[in-house]
Amino acid sequence: MCQTVKLSQQTDLSGCHHVYLFSQYDPQTIGAFILVIVCKGLVSASPHFENQYKSNATVAKFSLRKPSHPDDDLCYIIPGKPDSLATCTFNGTSKTFLIIHGWTLSGMFESWIPKLVSALYEREQTANVIVVDWLNSAQNHYVVAAQKTKAVGQEIAQFIDWIEETTNMPLENIHLIGYSLGAHVAGFAGSHATNKVGRITGLDPAGPDFEGEHAHRRLSPDDAHFVDVLHTFTRGSLGLSIGIQQPVGHVDIYPNGGSYQPGCNLRGALEKIANFGIFAVSDAVKCEHERSVHLFIDSLLNEQEAAMAYRCGSNDMFDRGMCLSCRKSRCNTVGYDINKVRKPRSVQMYTKTRSSMPFRVYHYQLKIHFSSKVNSSAMEPSLTVSLYGTRGEAENLQLKLKEKIVTNKTHSFLLVTEKDIGDLLMLKFKWEETNGWSASSMLKMVSSWWSGSSDGANVAVHKIRIRAGETQQKMVFCIKDPDAQKLTQELTFVKCKDPWRTNRKRTLRR
Ligand SMILES: *[C@@H]1O[C@H](CO)[C@@H](O)[C@H](O)[C@H]1NC(C)=O
Ligand SMILES: *[C@@H]1O[C@H](CO)[C@@H](O)[C@H](O)[C@H]1NC(C)=O
Ligand SMILES: *[C@@H]1O[C@H](CO)[C@@H](O)[C@H](O)[C@H]1NC(C)=O
Ligand SMILES: *[C@@H]1O[C@H](CO)[C@@H](O)[C@H](O)[C@H]1NC(C)=O
Repeated sequence: MCQTVKLSQQTDLSGCHHVYLFSQYDPQTIGAFILVIVCKGLVSASPHFENQYKSNATVAKFSLRKPSHPDDDLCYIIPGKPDSLATCTFNGTSKTFLIIHGWTLSGMFESWIPKLVSALYEREQTANVIVVDWLNSAQNHYVVAAQKTKAVGQEIAQFIDWIEETTNMPLENIHLIGYSLGAHVAGFAGSHATNKVGRITGLDPAGPDFEGEHAHRRLSPDDAHFVDVLHTFTRGSLGLSIGIQQPVGHVDIYPNGGSYQPGCNLRGALEKIANFGIFAVSDAVKCEHERSVHLFIDSLLNEQEAAMAYRCGSNDMFDRGMCLSCRKSRCNTVGYDINKVRKPRSVQMYTKTRSSMPFRVYHYQLKIHFSSKVNSSAMEPSLTVSLYGTRGEAENLQLKLKEKIVTNKTHSFLLVTEKDIGDLLMLKFKWEETNGWSASSMLKMVSSWWSGSSDGANVAVHKIRIRAGETQQKMVFCIKDPDAQKLTQELTFVKCKDPWRTNRKRTLRR
């Protein structure tokens, strides 16, 4: 028996056998704080919640929203009452979306719901967009709400069966969109419906009480013809994570590795805490968790600027730019327009995003061979690249070092630009010796001063190979002025004729 308690000064933890600290830490800023404390083996549950759990008050309501009033519940479709379909002008031949919310403390719909309703109508004008209201059950201790997801899902399944019988609607038309706990509700709805629904989209499905569970007890690929999932808050601590970490669909996309969403930094949250008190803490969590919803809304509204995700064995490999291929459906569109690729095993994909809508970025892999006549020790320089294309430029982009630079070896990097620079024409590359304040880099600087040379001066780069994810173009850039070999200055590279080849021996492999 587990119970999740909301933390306050008065929280009594005496009944807990084990206390797990679930903390959130943002390396970009300073500070860490406790998010949730989970007590395992809590002896007695509060009688209040026990009563609520036993009562069968899990009545889900089905509000057919109108494009003109995305925020208002003007008409409820009542299962068993065919009249209500006509009253609400339900279109039996149209796409039908069921939006399923998650856990709630406030007992009210969150502000993303009308935004998603509007975006769905924007894209599919004749659709039926139904908001499933299970607020009564969702407004509970988390563990209780999580236990109710099955019962709520079963009710939705009955609703789906009834719609199918009454209107003869092909279930391929039904698309369930569930957020957080609502994603698992959608899973139960899909698995209990007599026939399979077309699609379930899980928006950062909830992790606690579902991670590692059997496929029958959570959202899984069996629940619909196609199940796609966006994971945006999978930062784990002791096996607990707000969003589920494991893949649970046919295609699971982990934007920004599934955590640390740009624009959701702790700094902003801390400012809010300063202004609004400790209750604003949840905003930082909500920002990352809810980012999944906004990525999906973005995909509905900005069809022409669809973000791409790439299949990859790990986020670490993706961060080295090693997974930007689109061959054999290795890449896919993020969100609504995803290609419904069904493989026997879940496909995990990665993408980077901007901090706000439209979220898409342009991904590049840079393969750089650092050569040196003398044996240089492993280096941690600061590498900066500027890209110049037919439509614009992106200057002074930092190449993130995933490991130290060693000579006579090809290193692979991921680089992203927020804007479309068109076809790449030229790039500038800069190597700077010290990076940050680490003692080792300070020592290195001092020693190279004594010896009269710096490591970087011995290292040369003759070519840079580039693969653009969004266009799938492969290009080779050669140094413009072959005499300028010293990397301690900015070097210019222009497109050269050499074919883009993969030198497997030299390619970094893990
Ligand atoms: C559920 O509620 C209905 C009325 O709303 C009642 O008739 C039924 O007995 C209840 N079932 C249980 C198991 O409490
Ligand atoms: C119902 O939807 C279909 C297409 O999905 C559309 O052609 C038709 O006009 C709609 N009917 C009404 C009354 O809006
Ligand atoms: C270069 O360094 C490596 C490992 O540090 C060593 O094995 C190798 O012998 C060195 N080569 C030269 C030419 O010093
Ligand atoms: C690196 O490779 C070049 C060319 O193959 C060679 O001349 C040089 O000695 C190598 N450097 C080291 C340190 O092994």
